[in-house]
Amino acid sequence: MHENATPDPATTTPLDRAAAAAADGPPALRFPYDATALTETPISTERLVLRPLEASDAPDVFEYQRIPEVLRYIPWPERDRGEGYEATARRAAARVLAGDGDYFVLAMTLPDTPSVGDDDGPRVIGDIMVRVSSFANARLELGWIVHPDFQGRGYAYEAAAAVRDFAFDRLEPHRLEAYLDPRNTASAALCERLGMRHEGTMLEEAYNDEWQDSAVYGMLRRDWAASLT
Ligand SMILES: CC(C)(COP(=O)(O)OP(=O)(O)OC[C@H]1O[C@@H](n2cnc3c(N)ncnc32)[C@H](O)[C@@H]1OP(=O)(O)O)[C@@H](O)C(=O)NCCC(=O)NCCS
Repeated sequence: MHENATPDPATTTPLDRAAAAAADGPPALRFPYDATALTETPISTERLVLRPLEASDAPDVFEYQRIPEVLRYIPWPERDRGEGYEATARRAAARVLAGDGDYFVLAMTLPDTPSVGDDDGPRVIGDIMVRVSSFANARLELGWIVHPDFQGRGYAYEAAAAVRDFAFDRLEPHRLEAYLDPRNTASAALCERLGMRHEGTMLEEAYNDEWQDSAVYGMLRRDWAASLT
């Protein structure tokens, strides 16, 4: 680990960690932020283009939204096509980050793979959400989903790494975090690949037809900065 990064909680004292945190200064999210700007200047990765989700993406989104295996570890209800399209319209309309709970969703589009919808655009194979967990404490949360036909090829990692870098660079959170069911090993592996640390697990934290644990993953701004050097 780079010397400026967070001391490993397993091998350092709370005092060491407090000293490192003090060097970071107070929270300073660069808000408000309107993700609509990314329509004109999307985030491009090696294989993907990430731009704000649109209501017209509903047919592509429904292709993964309706698969029970995809919903297993996310708190979305099973939806019929009409409900799915409405949910996509709501998520597409959320664009401005200004306070707690605000979010935007970026569509992962795959150039040269046609949409299942009526337009001729590229297919939306998944999406990534950026949500404000705490404005006062400069904490942002990431969430992700990829159509099973496109999983296991590194697309989620490619997109999430680009959004992680965009978020730290443009929005300046102190912490980026993810919450997931610990049985969701694909999502846990993605967090680890992104450089997020497993900080702990809240037992039976939520009830979604059954009591579910919630694993907390986090990455501090200085960890990200150190990873760039
Ligand atoms: C979580 C989720 C997005 C992860 O997707 P994923 O495709 O497994 O993730 P990645 O893009 O990181 O791909 C990783 C796999 O692709 C492989 N891969 C292939 N080419 C690759 C490349 N160019 N770069 C990186 N990995 C590559 C990796 O080796 C890895 O395979 P492995 O798991 O056998 O080691 C996906 O499982 C999902 O959508 N789940 C349902 C929704 C959900 O639960 N969301 C999270 C809620 S917290």
